Amino acid sequence: MKQDSPDYRDAGLAFGAEFLFGSATAAYQIEGAAGEDGRGASIWDTFSRTPGKVLNGDTGDVADDHYHRWEADLDLMAELGLEAYRFSIAWPRIQPTGRGPVNEAGLAFYERLVDGLIARGIRPIATLYHWDLPQALEDEGGWANRATAYAFADYARLVGQRLGDRIEIWTTLNEPWCSAYLGYGSGVHAPGVTDRAKALAAVHHLNLAHGLGLAALREVVTNDPGFSITLNLHVSRPEGPSGPEAVRRIDGLANRVFLEPILDGRYPADVLEDTAAVTDWSFVEDGDLEIISGVPISVLGVNYYSSGRVRVWDGEGPKASADGHKDGAGTPWPGAAEEVEFLEQPGPYTAMGWNIDPSGLEELLVGLHERYPELPLMVTENGAAFDDVVEDGAVHDAARTDYLRRHFTAAHRAMGRGVPLTGYQVWSLLDNFEWAYGYSKRFGIVRVEYETLERLPKDSAGWYAELIRTRRIPE
Ligand code: NOJ
Repeated sequence: MKQDSPDYRDAGLAFGAEFLFGSATAAYQIEGAAGEDGRGASIWDTFSRTPGKVLNGDTGDVADDHYHRWEADLDLMAELGLEAYRFSIAWPRIQPTGRGPVNEAGLAFYERLVDGLIARGIRPIATLYHWDLPQALEDEGGWANRATAYAFADYARLVGQRLGDRIEIWTTLNEPWCSAYLGYGSGVHAPGVTDRAKALAAVHHLNLAHGLGLAALREVVTNDPGFSITLNLHVSRPEGPSGPEAVRRIDGLANRVFLEPILDGRYPADVLEDTAAVTDWSFVEDGDLEIISGVPISVLGVNYYSSGRVRVWDGEGPKASADGHKDGAGTPWPGAAEEVEFLEQPGPYTAMGWNIDPSGLEELLVGLHERYPELPLMVTENGAAFDDVVEDGAVHDAARTDYLRRHFTAAHRAMGRGVPLTGYQVWSLLDNFEWAYGYSKRFGIVRVEYETLERLPKDSAGWYAELIRTRRIPE
């Protein structure tokens, strides 16, 4: 039974009728069909085919074959009772070389998908860029090149013209932190560039793309949708006397370098100082900040998985880097943040080696709300990879269910503290291509058997379906 306005301070853990429960995926991670219907190559096609870049040489060529199985996947979503579905649109399906007219066959896929969602009463949350940059644009410099931001706006306009009467929320970019720092800093993600100045140029051009993209969308959409960006904001806990300084540096480079241009129309002065030895930021042109903040977002997407414990390295002994960026890949952080140590966190951990810290989600949401009191928030990703086992045709993924229960509870607690949280998209609907980890990490609430491509809802999917049905966190 749906309730309209539960008291979020209530220990009963009810969610209101307007709260949007859903699940999230991304194009390259699930679609497959990499060479079909005129799709162009993306930087992830190139990167995953480069030996040594992705575990086991895995690629997204087939992935979950969602491109062909989308209808059955939509039926599965409906069976679980999902109210929203966050997916991404593959730019190289729409514009195979990143420029020029629409590739009709590619766009038709998303029309089918969106119509199929709406027919099942599931609200579409579309992300325009979830890391699959057309390779042709990378050949011209990718996100280190200002022209990519303008190409993105043209792409946003084309998609908006065609789907702009049916999308509930438009998200410009997913986790630009990863695109910039992992793509151009440490190089563990496509395109695999290791150049700190380029990583910072990419930060700015991604911010610019967000602003230009929203301006283009606003001109063409007709249904008064939400406008958004999804950030992976870092929750850092200070360790020892240098802890607060380390937190400031990471908060600057990871969080405020995106939040402030978008929401306040400026770059944080301390971040410019922290990175002065790397770049003079001359890629920021007059008028850029007005563009970036010009169309206000109506909801901020928050991806949260785990937290960090930090201090400034004293130069003695090896620098700790327990933040998932070890293995000789080098730090993704440019400037002063490079000197920050990420210390081993107390467990338990997920299969990614990430610590489980639900209170970090509550703190993040409450902190954002204090800083931007008028801004609605949505959890656009949260979930966990575990080494699942199939037993008698079932996956009893109690650890994943427990992870989700604890994070939903933390989100509910944040709402009890006044946070306007509008929804929650669990990562992920399906096991999928986990970037540099290939298919070795399973985040799905539905198992995908990669040999047969069969789908098998895990126990966590049943738990989630009950949460959605009862609007109350089950035991
Ligand atoms: C963030 C990304 O948006 C998504 O693509 C990825 O699979 C998950 N987090 C898990 O790492």
